[in-house]
Formats: sequence, C-alpha cells, structure tokens
Amino acid sequence: MKIVLASGNKNKLREIREILEPLGYEVVSEKEAGAETDVEENGSTFEENAEIKARAIYGMLHVPVIADDSGLTVDYLNGAPGIYSARYAEEGKRCAKLLSELEGVPDEKRGASFVCAICYMDEKGEAHFFRGECHGRIGYEKRGNNGFGYDPIFLYGDKTFAELSAEEKNRVSHRAKALEKLREYLK
Ligand code: IMP
Repeated sequence: MKIVLASGNKNKLREIREILEPLGYEVVSEKEAGAETDVEENGSTFEENAEIKARAIYGMLHVPVIADDSGLTVDYLNGAPGIYSARYAEEGKRCAKLLSELEGVPDEKRGASFVCAICYMDEKGEAHFFRGECHGRIGYEKRGNNGFGYDPIFLYGDKTFAELSAEEKNRVSHRAKALEKLREYLK
C-alpha cells in the first residue's frame, strides 16, 4: 500500500520509512508524488496543523496521506515552544536559544516532552489522529551527532536523543509511538 507523506523533511521521511516499510507500506514524499505544498500551518494545536498539511496534499492527489506535526514542549516555559518549535529560532540556533532560556534552572524543573500528532487521511478524505509523547529533560549542553532539531539537548535517561542510534530513537520516540498507533489502526 502506498502512502504519501505530507512533508519535505528528509529526517521525518527516513524515520517514518524505517517504521512503516517493514510492515509492507511504501512511503513516498509529497515531492516524489508530484504534489509539493507550502500551506500556512495556522492551527492552534498539533492535530489541527497536521490536518491542514494532510488535506492540502489529499486535495491534489486523492490518495491516503500521512502528515505529522511535532514539537518540543518544555515544562518550565509552560509548554513553549510547542507548536512553534520550528519557528522558535533558525535551524542551528534553536538548541542554543532554549539552553539560554533555561540557564540556572535546576534539574527538577527541566522536564520536557516531544509531541507528535499524526493525521492519517484515508482515501475518502476522512481524518484520523494518533498522538505520541516522549518525556525527558533538557540538558545543559549539546551532546551527540545523530538526529536533528532539538535532539542534542533532549535527555532521555542519561543520553540525549542525538546520542542514540536511529534504531534506539525509533523504539521510544514520540513519532514512533504515534506511528505505532497508526500501524495498529491500519492493520
Ligand atoms: P514540524 O515540521 O512543523 O513538525 O516542526 C517540528 C519542529 O520540532 C522541528 O523544527 C524540530 O526542530 C522539532 N522536532 C520535531 N520532532 C523532533 C525530533 O524528533 N527531534 C528533534 N526535534 C524535533
């Protein structure tokens, strides 16, 4: 079964492929499917933003689409950057900005969660939602070279997400948990 991923993010495509392809799904990017979009993600929740992206692609192709919206919610910042995670700062400066906002904040107040909302739009255009969360802490410095985005400062146990291999991250990540729910639904 072929599913179009409503994203141009190569890291997400790789992670989603690694999880769904062993189950027999062919995941193609919106670009490969010939339907690139640049819609404004102006929803107020992760779910609304995921549905906006999914519907844009579905409107062009009328085939099953997966869209995800994800981000990092930091307890001390009352859930920020949350749905604004991608816009929080330029790529490459996000971790440093977050670390500086948490300067002097003690361990017990550094809790954070990665959140992923997946919208699966079926061939009839009906939206189904699956949410995954992964709880951890914000560290004090960047560590590790794997992953992307906020991975180098997100501590899961005593390692950052950027210090985990792709397989290790895929076992516990917010995206993996949301995809597991989607997989259960698709079965
Ligand atoms: P989206 O593409 O609108 O879902 O934006 C998600 C933003 O949250 C990205 O810019 C990333 O910086 C961050 N993010 C989402 N998932 C992850 C992850 O697994 N690791 C690190 N950062 C992530």
